[in-house]
Amino acid sequence: MKTKIALIGFGTVGQGLCEILLSKEDYLKSKYGFEASIVAISDVLKGAVYCKEGLDIQQCLDLVKDAKNLDEYKCDGTNCNCEKGWDAIRTIKETNADIICELAYTDVKTGEPAITHCKTAFENGKHVVTSNKGPAALKYSEMQNLAEKNNVKFLIEGTVMSGSPVLNLVNGPLAGCEITAIKGILNGTTNYMLSEMEKGMTYDNVLKKAQELGYAEADPTGDVEGFDAMAKVIILSNVVMNAGINATDVDRQGITNITPEMISDAKKENSRWKLIGSIEKVKDGIKASVKPEKLPLTHPLANIMGATNALTFITDLLGDVTIIGAGAGKIETGYSILTDILEIHRKQ
Ligand SMILES: NC(=O)c1ccc[n+]([C@@H]2O[C@H](COP(=O)([O-])OP(=O)(O)OC[C@H]3O[C@@H](n4cnc5c(N)ncnc54)[C@H](OP(=O)(O)O)[C@@H]3O)[C@@H](O)[C@H]2O)c1
Repeated sequence: MKTKIALIGFGTVGQGLCEILLSKEDYLKSKYGFEASIVAISDVLKGAVYCKEGLDIQQCLDLVKDAKNLDEYKCDGTNCNCEKGWDAIRTIKETNADIICELAYTDVKTGEPAITHCKTAFENGKHVVTSNKGPAALKYSEMQNLAEKNNVKFLIEGTVMSGSPVLNLVNGPLAGCEITAIKGILNGTTNYMLSEMEKGMTYDNVLKKAQELGYAEADPTGDVEGFDAMAKVIILSNVVMNAGINATDVDRQGITNITPEMISDAKKENSRWKLIGSIEKVKDGIKASVKPEKLPLTHPLANIMGATNALTFITDLLGDVTIIGAGAGKIETGYSILTDILEIHRKQ
């Protein structure tokens, strides 16, 4: 039976997932007996279309590539009654999708509209797969409890390091280990900026370059002041360590006070500044922070350069386990959605 999926948001990640489903259709079917049917897409500006028999994904991708609206979608199914223009809530409630992929924008202050999307899905007996940090960082236990109550899953692999396995690693291969601390580079934009500043670029010039390359947004505050990394630290603390923390519990500092002099002084000392997210179990709970740290070059995280992310789990049985990989990207984050969809498929 095909897994029926609805996409809320058809931007970079939604399109990345669709490209993967097209290119890997035969592989996924022969290896896992997995067949996906995207039955609905709902996006604010790009339009919305629902076909209970499954959409022609290539046609949807072509429409947005040509800057056309999904309202122009043409169904070739017999007796088809495609619906157009449904908003996210109606799509979640009324389509025949089993899985809702919540891929709208992240708002780490309110978590909306994603929190409402997730709640609506759970209340209607639908799984949620999302790379949106909002619901996971602000309301993880509430989302998890509501999903469990409705016998569905809330899967969020893509919220921390895109498709590089982090949460699934903890829940799978590392399940028998106690994780006592986590330390990592969780924001590719700032790691890229610090790497380029070491080559001699000024903060302002490197920020401009990061914006041109699409690493940093027009308003870079979320990255450079450490808010993005903080959301990931909160997710890791709550999912991996069951800590129940929020933003006020994280000692947060960005990279805006790092000067070229500090970088060249560190170089002379065989050290390097990195924006480090850190979580440590302490006697009465956990200690969580995001701040620049001067690491000796012998430290594994000191040698992670450019937009790459890395995370070290300090475990009781295996010692340090480090994962290094992409922290963003169309295909990489689309892949995180696929892994969680496959997890639901495996358990059915
Ligand atoms: N891109 C990455 O590498 C990456 C990595 C990790 C996590 N994420 C997270 O994954 C999510 C998706 O990222 P993205 O890069 O695909 O973002 P994006 O390119 O900005 O796409 C988001 C899409 O969601 C649509 N949208 C906004 N509000 C909506 C609503 N209420 N109902 C339906 N659609 C809505 C937007 O519509 P319009 O633009 O048409 O208004 C846009 O097309 C975000 O939460 C992001 O933080 C992304």
